[in-house]
Amino acid sequence: MPAPLPRITREIRLAEVPAGLPGPEHLTLAEVPLPLPEAGEVLVRNRWFQVFPSLRTLIAGGVPGTPFPPLRPGDTLFGPAVGEVVTAPDGCGLRPGDLIAHYRGWREHAVVPVSAPLGDDLPDPAAHLAPGATAYAALTRIARLRAGETVLVTGGAGGVGSLAGQIARRLGAARVIGTTGSPAKAERMTAELGYDAVVLRDGSPIGGRLAEAAPDGVDVVVDNVGGEQLRAAIAVARPGARLAVVGTLATQLSAASGGTTAPVELDAFQLIAKNLTLRGFVGVDEDTRAEWTRRFGAWLRSGAVVFPHTRVPGIENAPRALRELFEGRHLGTVVVEI
Ligand SMILES: NC(=O)c1ccc[n+]([C@@H]2O[C@H](COP(=O)([O-])OP(=O)(O)OC[C@H]3O[C@@H](n4cnc5c(N)ncnc54)[C@H](OP(=O)(O)O)[C@@H]3O)[C@@H](O)[C@H]2O)c1
Repeated sequence: MPAPLPRITREIRLAEVPAGLPGPEHLTLAEVPLPLPEAGEVLVRNRWFQVFPSLRTLIAGGVPGTPFPPLRPGDTLFGPAVGEVVTAPDGCGLRPGDLIAHYRGWREHAVVPVSAPLGDDLPDPAAHLAPGATAYAALTRIARLRAGETVLVTGGAGGVGSLAGQIARRLGAARVIGTTGSPAKAERMTAELGYDAVVLRDGSPIGGRLAEAAPDGVDVVVDNVGGEQLRAAIAVARPGARLAVVGTLATQLSAASGGTTAPVELDAFQLIAKNLTLRGFVGVDEDTRAEWTRRFGAWLRSGAVVFPHTRVPGIENAPRALRELFEGRHLGTVVVEI
């Protein structure tokens, strides 16, 4: 006999929009009736969801053209999640117990559209929450890394960056340089994540230290940070370098910034003189994602790549996990386990 369904479930809602960075004091844990699926939908019990930095931008009003809508007071937060099917319509291809990926995280139960069950490509279902497809697309589709090149990953210890460094190494990069704000993470980046050198964001200008770490310049940049670090990356870029602009952490996670714009003054002469390609992108197409998932699974199983992450148990601790993500307390992806 299947266990009876609960009548009440819990979710994290935005209580108010702060002037600076959102924290636990701006969120509430709400008890709500269990949602009921309609045609084409299934009820899932969420097992894991990702705490991701874009929530700051979405709470601040969002950016038109990016995939997620803004969050308003009273809204339930959302984000990448893996849920276990509880009930599914007959003939939809899903059965209770199947795991599916969706975007209705931050709640214990969710009603989501029918989709294909997660296969067994990845040895750990929570690894589906790694933003590695973004790192993989930046390196293979946007910057088109070639073996023997030097790669710079700004924000190199984050969810995207901690995989970007490892992927660059697997794809044959000769030298991989990262940046972080934490000396402890810098040690782990060289010991565990394949970085040859790490430059610290310590409040002093980063350009000179980056030039020392990359004496021959860099060919490929995966930029998660923007601001001063993007400027410094352009200064050390070699002729013909390709820069994939992935994120804007410097302004996104600054209490002083509005969180929805990321202005940076660039030296256009450098772009021209060095024939640089600077390309932003958002989202990953299905083919690239499928290719990434297959390769990630093989690399995880062989031990060639690790999934750097922190698991925070309990939905009630998710607001604290968001604050800790913003404060840089964790290395890699931050996952709440329910
Ligand atoms: N384009 C796309 O399709 C796409 C997809 C996914 C993510 N993104 C974006 O890519 C960026 C990276 O995402 P992520 O998930 O990997 O985030 P993340 O790096 O895990 O974000 C948290 C980290 O940001 C760093 N940080 C905090 N304040 C900072 C500041 N003032 N300046 C620089 N770094 C700061 C801290 O790392 P340290 O302690 O190491 O400094 C912290 O641990 C984000 O902007 C995200 O929105 C874009």
